[in-house]
Amino acid sequence: MKNFIFIGAPGAGKGTQAAMVKQDLHLAHISTGDMLRAAVKAGTELGKEAKAYMDAGELVPDELIIAMVKERLQEEDAQNGFILDGFPRTVAQAEALQQMLEEQGLKLTAAVSFEVPEEVVIERLSGRRVCKQCGAIYHIKNNPPKQEGICDKCGGELIQRDDDKPEAIKRRLESFKADTEPVLAFYEKLGLLRKLQADAPAEEVHRKFLEAFGD
Ligand code: AP5
Repeated sequence: MKNFIFIGAPGAGKGTQAAMVKQDLHLAHISTGDMLRAAVKAGTELGKEAKAYMDAGELVPDELIIAMVKERLQEEDAQNGFILDGFPRTVAQAEALQQMLEEQGLKLTAAVSFEVPEEVVIERLSGRRVCKQCGAIYHIKNNPPKQEGICDKCGGELIQRDDDKPEAIKRRLESFKADTEPVLAFYEKLGLLRKLQADAPAEEVHRKFLEAFGD
């Protein structure tokens, strides 16, 4: 059973790679960003509380995120292996995760850091489009849909995320440096950190991932 954490700057390609790895290794894909966007869309209490933070590119408070992940990790599909995409993002979240794993008798395979230069992530985020219906990820240049504005997979409308606007992108990058880079040091100390050069086409990054972890 394999349990991964995917860490990386916004736009590093965590969601794109997680969708590919999920298919190959049959793992649950647990994206805190997707879970929060679903809560916002459904208008739940959590969604109402999270929306302002997300739109501004700020982190949602630890206690909300930790409770949400704790519940998700107890679901059946997570017992056969998982990818945590976008969590943990603070040292407090990493510590809480260690405790959850211990309680459930689970171990991490690796914390994979997707390494991409800042100018590349800015270009990726500015050109990203996502399907409003199924969440599939596109890029206007790197991975365009067959028909502009329409999802290849489900025919849904493609939109720009509210937090992919320049001001929010800037804030998210600052938060990555201040809050999430210390999480890399946390996993390095535990001997679990693996760095993957991710400034390459998505298929190539995926191939490198499978070479390292796909056995
Ligand atoms: P979240 O949704 O997790 O956003 P993020 O970490 O900023 O990551 P992204 O989804 O923007 O990027 P990605 O690395 O998945 O890249 P993608 O594959 O889409 O979080 C959103 C917000 O929710 C946060 O700001 C925060 O408010 C809140 N939140 C979430 N988790 C939280 C937590 N744990 N604690 C507190 N708050 C939390 O790719 C990007 C683009 O690049 C796409 O267009 C794609 O097509 C393209 N692309 C991907 N790979 C490649 C490649 N190899 N080559 C060329 N183009 C590529």
